[in-house]
Amino acid sequence: MSEPAGSEGALREAIAEVGRSLFARGYAVGTAGNISARLGDGYLITPTNSSLGALDPARLAKLDTGFRHVGGDRPSKEVFMHRAFYEARPAAGAVVHLHSTMATAIACLAQPGERQPIPPLTPYFVMRLGRDLPVIAYFRPGDPAMATAIAAAAAGAAGVLLANHGPVVAGAALRDAVAAAEELEEAARLALLLRGASPRQLTPAQIDELLATFG
Ligand code: 13P
Repeated sequence: MSEPAGSEGALREAIAEVGRSLFARGYAVGTAGNISARLGDGYLITPTNSSLGALDPARLAKLDTGFRHVGGDRPSKEVFMHRAFYEARPAAGAVVHLHSTMATAIACLAQPGERQPIPPLTPYFVMRLGRDLPVIAYFRPGDPAMATAIAAAAAGAAGVLLANHGPVVAGAALRDAVAAAEELEEAARLALLLRGASPRQLTPAQIDELLATFG
């Protein structure tokens, strides 16, 4: 019997599918990156040390509403990173963390504390990420101390850049978080391509209009 849309089974399949797609298109390599999504009774998150290209829907880790591991394989070591986003952004339905190349390059160039490490060049970057993309200080992967810094930044931003590590983005649903991660990577690519040039940026009025129209 097939699962009704919106069920846990459908969400498990969707996470595996977006993982495959991101991996196939080079947004993730090796075992880098992790994906989580909110359920009625907790969360699903990709297992630690798993390739996003080969996720088994049945083995995704399940967490309860207190982020305790209650099923599936051992969860990503970045659970606290995802948790910080869900707690800071109650409307978030999914969180995606990648080490995608261009965004990570910016994360190596930008200074912790910066809020706009990527200029507002294109509408979709602003529509998906908003005004700010705070840069968080470097922490080793899996360091729970990162959570406090992320929580403070995520309250006012849909995404952050972890210095020398990579982007983390949230969205209302899985497809929104994935779209935001992809837009962020493309905006980072443009920023690097145009580095040293003086590209025209969106004006504050154009940014206001985008945010008023698309939220
Ligand atoms: P996990 O394999 O534990 O999810 O960690 C991967 C990663 O991207 C660390 O930042």
